[in-house]
Amino acid sequence: MNDWRGIHKGQALCVLRPSTVEHVSKIVTLCGEQGVGIVPQGGNTGLTGGSTPDASGRQIILSTRGLKRIRALDPVDMTVVAEAGVTITELQAAADAAGTLFPLSFAAEGSATLGGAVATNAGGTAAVRYGSARDLLLGLEVVLPDGRIWNGLRRLHKDNAGYSLRHLFAGSEGTLGIVTAAVMKLAAKAETRAVAFCSLKTEADVAKFWTMLQASGDGSIRAAEYISGASLALVTSVMGLRSPIAEDNHYILVELHSPRADAQLMSLLESILSNALAEGIVTDVVIAQSEQQARDLWRLREDQTEAQRRSGLNLKHDIAVPVSLVGELLTRSRAALSRDFPDLLVVPFGHLGDGNIHMNVILPQTISASAATTLEKNVAEIIYGIAESLQGTFSAEHGIGTSKIELLQKYRSDVELDLMRRIKSTLDPFNIMNPENFYIINQFINENTLRRSRSSALSNFDTVERFTLRT
Ligand code: FAD
Ligand code: MLT
Ligand code: ZN
Repeated sequence: MNDWRGIHKGQALCVLRPSTVEHVSKIVTLCGEQGVGIVPQGGNTGLTGGSTPDASGRQIILSTRGLKRIRALDPVDMTVVAEAGVTITELQAAADAAGTLFPLSFAAEGSATLGGAVATNAGGTAAVRYGSARDLLLGLEVVLPDGRIWNGLRRLHKDNAGYSLRHLFAGSEGTLGIVTAAVMKLAAKAETRAVAFCSLKTEADVAKFWTMLQASGDGSIRAAEYISGASLALVTSVMGLRSPIAEDNHYILVELHSPRADAQLMSLLESILSNALAEGIVTDVVIAQSEQQARDLWRLREDQTEAQRRSGLNLKHDIAVPVSLVGELLTRSRAALSRDFPDLLVVPFGHLGDGNIHMNVILPQTISASAATTLEKNVAEIIYGIAESLQGTFSAEHGIGTSKIELLQKYRSDVELDLMRRIKSTLDPFNIMNPENFYIINQFINENTLRRSRSSALSNFDTVERFTLRT
């Protein structure tokens, strides 16, 4: 019962895989009655340990992968209504077949599910153009911790009737209920695209290049992804890929796209890049001349996470700062980390246009467990400290899960934590929904309630098992 990276390990009482919302509701009702904690799991690609049960063997995994239906897709409304277990790739394919675009996109899209994407408010490589999952979310169906089904599947682009409940569940990571279906916005299908890979010398150039792209991109920028020199070297060596460009300190992958078949994207990109070359902002550029070349350039970006996973213990720091301060984030982090930890491999990359840099670090394979723990703490202090001083966040798109609880407590104000606790205690007073996630906000729980629910869990194993057979 491990997470995708094999870092978070747990043991589940059982895995239940319902295929209807009514079955989800029955499971949740039963777990509520018996005080059994529920860990929702979609594709299990999350990066903060949120879909791994604890070590007690007393929590169940509720896999949403049986909820597989695309219930409706309307190219006039520009909406898709799909169940939680549909993968992002399946949604993209369905939208494409209907002549539209499902804009969410990231390297784990083949396994990651719609429910997981909504629950984590996933961002990805096209968020700079279309926003994160929350921005695409129009309606929601949720099984609440008391077993009730909330059907809020409205296909409305405008709906100001009271609090925006759907947005409360986006990014709640399974702590407030189980997303069983969602209505998502579609966009116009891209008819043309142009992809380029550029090398740059300094962090200041990275910042200048983004300013230039934004000013001249005519609203057609679909992605502007940053890759550091060390990250490109790692992905080429570990994944057996070829670098297409002259070596430098930084790289940016740019994709322009347009729904117009006659959009002159290639000439637009060429003109932006020749200006950037003339001004010395970029040192070299490669423009994809075919779909295959575009895909090859994208692999240099999309394989980053896998290359880093294969290279040893990979410390992830999912930072975002105001976009105007990305250059400073990169410069200050490089200076501080190379001064204090000259032997560590620092491999930042990420979503430049969102100010979201994955300031990742790889520890040497030979390091002892205790040295790794100390290093992890010291490195994190530096990176999160810099992000905080630049008015940034310690969690841009990966959420809190179980691995960022201390950071939540450290960097969010008492008022914010209090509001989160109140929301959680109102919706899930017995803390059955993903009980370890966000643990700091679950502290409202009366210790007696917690003890009672945990001790009753095992004795009710038979009930849960019998129920599994029925569903
Ligand atoms: P899971 O991992 O199964 O679950 C994630 C969390 O959501 C858990 O807390 C779980 O309990 C909860 N959950 C899952 N389904 C539901 C549901 N139906 N109802 C309620 N709670 C639920 N993320 C980004 O934002 N941007 C990226 O660019 C990106 N790139 C990635 C690249 C790689 C190679 C990998 C491995 C991961 C990447 N991720 C990225 C992280 C991850 O893919 C996303 O967070 C994704 O949305 C998780 O979906 P999932 O179905 O795998 O959810
Ligand atoms: C990505 O953008 O590929 C992931 O969100 C980042 C990561 O693996 O740290
Ligand atoms: Zn990312």
